[in-house]
Amino acid sequence: MSYIICLLPGDGIGQEVIPAARAALIATGLRCRFVEADIGWACFQRRGTALPNETLTAVRQADVTLLGAVGSPSHRVTGYRSPVVGLRQALDLYACVRPVRTPPLEGQRPGIDMVVIRENSEGLYAGGEEVTGAPDDRRAVAHRIITSHGSRRIAQFALDYAQHHRRQRVTLVHKANVLRESCGLFRETVLAVFAGQVGTNPVVVDELLVDTAAYHMVRSPERFDVIVTTNLFGDILSDAASAWGGGLGLAASANIGAERAVFEPVHGSAPDIAGRGIANPLAAISAAALLLDYLGETSRGDRLRTAVDAALRAGIHTPDLGGAATTAEVLAFVITHLTEENSAMTCPECEATLTLPADLIEGEIVPCPDCGAELEVTSTSPVQLQLAPMVEEDWGE
Ligand code: NAI
Ligand code: MG
Repeated sequence: MSYIICLLPGDGIGQEVIPAARAALIATGLRCRFVEADIGWACFQRRGTALPNETLTAVRQADVTLLGAVGSPSHRVTGYRSPVVGLRQALDLYACVRPVRTPPLEGQRPGIDMVVIRENSEGLYAGGEEVTGAPDDRRAVAHRIITSHGSRRIAQFALDYAQHHRRQRVTLVHKANVLRESCGLFRETVLAVFAGQVGTNPVVVDELLVDTAAYHMVRSPERFDVIVTTNLFGDILSDAASAWGGGLGLAASANIGAERAVFEPVHGSAPDIAGRGIANPLAAISAAALLLDYLGETSRGDRLRTAVDAALRAGIHTPDLGGAATTAEVLAFVITHLTEENSAMTCPECEATLTLPADLIEGEIVPCPDCGAELEVTSTSPVQLQLAPMVEEDWGE
């Protein structure tokens, strides 16, 4: 299976971390073709739009998309609107998924492994705002839109996610004691979806008011497994959660719709360090791991995560983690780790060490350079070999 991956590096350090993630994807041996498209503030300045139509087309034609970051002007610019929001709306990327776990770094709180699933298409961000009244007596109103449809699909997504990833518990976060109608509808709908689940390993659902959830996020983050919540609550809680995961240099997220998905590091364009070659590429590489999971290439995703952890354990740290490594040095470590995994293979016949190409495919036959035995690739990530079955030759009569 070969995939088309659309890359949207965007602004600032997006231009540095997306090429790194691309190189890491290639090093997993994934069969894919990359297409690159324009997005962001620099794109707006060049072309008058931050999200050109041809970018949307490229994203729609690709199997998956990896976005770097987009910058924004420091002042209000007519005609400029966030292309990230535009992308989410155009592709109806209704679920935002942010996994957070304790990173293998010194001084980190152990035992944290949670996923925040945020409804991405409605809530306070989709209803629009208006201002009425005289200039000195204004009244601003924001509309909070919650629908049965939107609540049902995010609940179903959270349930499927929990079952697929063997998670035990989903915590529904809301404020239905005050927002009785909007949060009430969200709560009722989510609980109904979980009540109707089938299967032998039911996912436990519990609920927390958002203020209590914020308290637990600070005091006892290890209690969380999967969180499902509305747009604004999810935005805030997921940022708070990512502090437990080693910060912005490591946090990755997925924006998933019914047909398309866009993966991105959580960080922005980081203008303060852009162009200096010191951006941490591990958030973008972790986003690439989520992309692989989405494609069903979970063992390649696991290998990327293992390589990220290995870089952290080995102390190959960029300045955001207190080190002095460059983007290129971190990437080089990750690539070496990924390729060494394959070169540590030995021939099952003569036990010679094998150096294998990164782009093996299942079923391929590779000869051992030492003994000449034909080895069949039975799995590619990580590579597993066995002696190729003897072919019954037909000698004729
Ligand atoms: P930011 O995430 O770009 O940077 C915050 C701080 O973290 C900076 O000190 C930066 O140097 C550091 N940092 C972030 N990522 C890093 C990495 N990979 N390696 C090392 N250090 C890293 O957030 P900020 O400064 O608030 O926003 C900058 C621009 O990015 C703004 O124009 C903002 O609108 C945009 N932005 C875009 C996002 C996106 O594309 N999804 C998300 C957040 C902000
Ligand atoms: Mg945010």
